[in-house]
Amino acid sequence: MAFNSGLSPIVKPWVLLLLLALLQCSSAQFCSFLNNGCIDPLAQTAVSFDFQPLFTDPIYFYYGFDASSSGKGEGPMTKTGFWLRYQDRHVNKDAINQNMTSEVALRVGNMTATPSGTNNGCDGVWGTRCSNDIKFAIQQTIFLLSSSGRYYDRPLQKALEHMMLVPPHLPNCVSFVFDVAAIPVQEFAREGDDQNVIVMPSGSGERPWQVFYLDDMTDHQQASQVAVGIITRGPSHNSPPPMSPNEIQVELVCLQAPQSPPSGSSSKDHD
Ligand SMILES: *[C@@H]1O[C@H](CO)[C@@H](O)[C@H](O)[C@H]1NC(C)=O
Ligand SMILES: *[C@@H]1O[C@H](CO)[C@@H](O)[C@H](O)[C@H]1NC(C)=O
Repeated sequence: MAFNSGLSPIVKPWVLLLLLALLQCSSAQFCSFLNNGCIDPLAQTAVSFDFQPLFTDPIYFYYGFDASSSGKGEGPMTKTGFWLRYQDRHVNKDAINQNMTSEVALRVGNMTATPSGTNNGCDGVWGTRCSNDIKFAIQQTIFLLSSSGRYYDRPLQKALEHMMLVPPHLPNCVSFVFDVAAIPVQEFAREGDDQNVIVMPSGSGERPWQVFYLDDMTDHQQASQVAVGIITRGPSHNSPPPMSPNEIQVELVCLQAPQSPPSGSSSKDHD
């Protein structure tokens, strides 16, 4: 039995959201720039996307960044955080019949664009055919991994490591999508036998799932970047490999968190 493939042409109204919360410098600072366990974003945005069948309700991808003109003492730096939010970790147990791992990754850097259109904003960035190339490349890499018989902990993380080393052929994409220094990955659901599932609690600025720093990036530069979220549900190593790559679910979301126009001073400093 299969779940919906990420490539299935179910056209849902693209609900780009939402919530562009521009948190002002005047608001109380609850997290310092160099603390990587939390984030007090200068700009934050979220998008809802479907992750059926495991989650029956839409889930929200949050992305935010903070900035410092002095960073760790050498030039500007940004701090990026991301997480998901969902309703009460409510999952559809009927969708569970194998050992599966769901993960979310975020890619930021070397790509400025304004999200729009299908595939949760990504088609406006690089076109539908490129979105399909990227999804297929990820499906194919996870498929080969799960068919290899080798041990792996997290399918998306392992696949991305490989794709950053050996860039996949993406005939309909203009730029090197995997040409960034790092693509942090977070596991958020692990399904097992007997309809067991462990789901990560929703994140927040106080508890972001991943935080990372980008050197030589100013707040204005990061505001023009498109942040690409990659969300997958793929076979755990102790699961029989899927019949075809199409059975591996891959969703893309593209977001941008522009800052408010500078009023007086243009960057927020933490020191
Ligand atoms: C952008 O690409 C360059 C060259 O490949 C790379 O060194 C750099 O780390 C990339 N930037 C980010 C933010 O990943
Ligand atoms: C899921 O993983 C467990 C533990 O490794 C294993 O015993 C079980 O056979 C696996 N289930 C399936 C359907 O592959």
